[in-house]
Amino acid sequence: MFARFSALAILVALVSASAIDKRAAPVNQMVGYATLNGGTTGGAGGPTTTVTTLAALRAAITGATPKIVQISGIITGDGDTIDIGNHTTVVGIGSNSGVTGGGFRKGTNVILRNLQLSKSPAPTDLIELQTSTNIWVDHNTFTSDLTHDKDFYDGQLDMNHGTDFVTVSWNVFQQHFKCSLVGGSDNTGDEDSGHLRVTYHHNHFLEINSRTPSLRFGTAHIYSNYFDNVLASAIDSRDGAQVLVEDNQFTNVVDPIETTLNGGFAVQRSNVFTNTTLEATIAAGTLTTVPYTYTADAASSVASIVVASAGAGIVTGL
Ligand SMILES: *[C@@H]1O[C@H](CO)[C@@H](O)[C@H](O)[C@H]1NC(C)=O
Ligand SMILES: *[C@@H]1O[C@H](CO)[C@@H](O)[C@H](O)[C@H]1NC(C)=O
Repeated sequence: MFARFSALAILVALVSASAIDKRAAPVNQMVGYATLNGGTTGGAGGPTTTVTTLAALRAAITGATPKIVQISGIITGDGDTIDIGNHTTVVGIGSNSGVTGGGFRKGTNVILRNLQLSKSPAPTDLIELQTSTNIWVDHNTFTSDLTHDKDFYDGQLDMNHGTDFVTVSWNVFQQHFKCSLVGGSDNTGDEDSGHLRVTYHHNHFLEINSRTPSLRFGTAHIYSNYFDNVLASAIDSRDGAQVLVEDNQFTNVVDPIETTLNGGFAVQRSNVFTNTTLEATIAAGTLTTVPYTYTADAASSVASIVVASAGAGIVTGL
């Protein structure tokens, strides 16, 4: 009798656990391309340094050995890039730590989390990944403005020169013209084809003009994001890029999935389009499965989930 009851209790527990797993994607877990190619560990195992000045930040994030750098408060940049050494975690403390007026660049095996990043005048992007592999950009808030000219700022999160195995999750990208450019030019197919594999999930794109993302040559899995007032063009697949776009909410979005203007491909399924007209013609892509497991939230629940759990201040500390 006792044995049967405990077997039943275990069965009930297993059934309810799997029901919960199906209902909601985990908010605090790495998923997607950054988990491949050996995985992304950032500075795990290395020493932790807390910085409050630009000079201390620059010094702390260089070098090729593992290191964890905590930023306390908002550091004002000098407009130039802040280059990241390999095997680095940069994390903001609390809900209002990060960098304004400058941006991060480079690095392999890097984690950037819980940062407020804002207003870096061109040509410095808020984050520019160059020849970078295994990168996790998670729970950050990127903020600019739409009052300057469209070229005053450059990108919020750009990737080029063969960057690969990137996950961009639970971020807020807001008030910006050119959000995320993957593949810097039409002439870089030699270094970018077969690379630029990126997962975008559970991000909130709020009042963005374009490039959420714009992708050349690469492969992007774009699921359970909230596209919320995109003014000119959202996902732009070009130069043979393949994108799988699923379980997203598009609200007030102009040109949600562009392929035909620029020679890219897309598969779209299970998306919800509100006040948004899907393009009449989408060049059919081949990316229908991805080489990792993931839990997508249904498009109809994505807006409330993402508004509650994306951006800095949600996953604090390490
Ligand atoms: C950082 O990683 C890249 C890619 O693996 C490598 O080419 C580069 O030499 C590394 N840099 C250092 C300083 O170890
Ligand atoms: C859809 O567009 C109309 C007209 O511009 C606007 O009044 C309404 O608020 C929009 N709906 C949503 C969900 O944004």
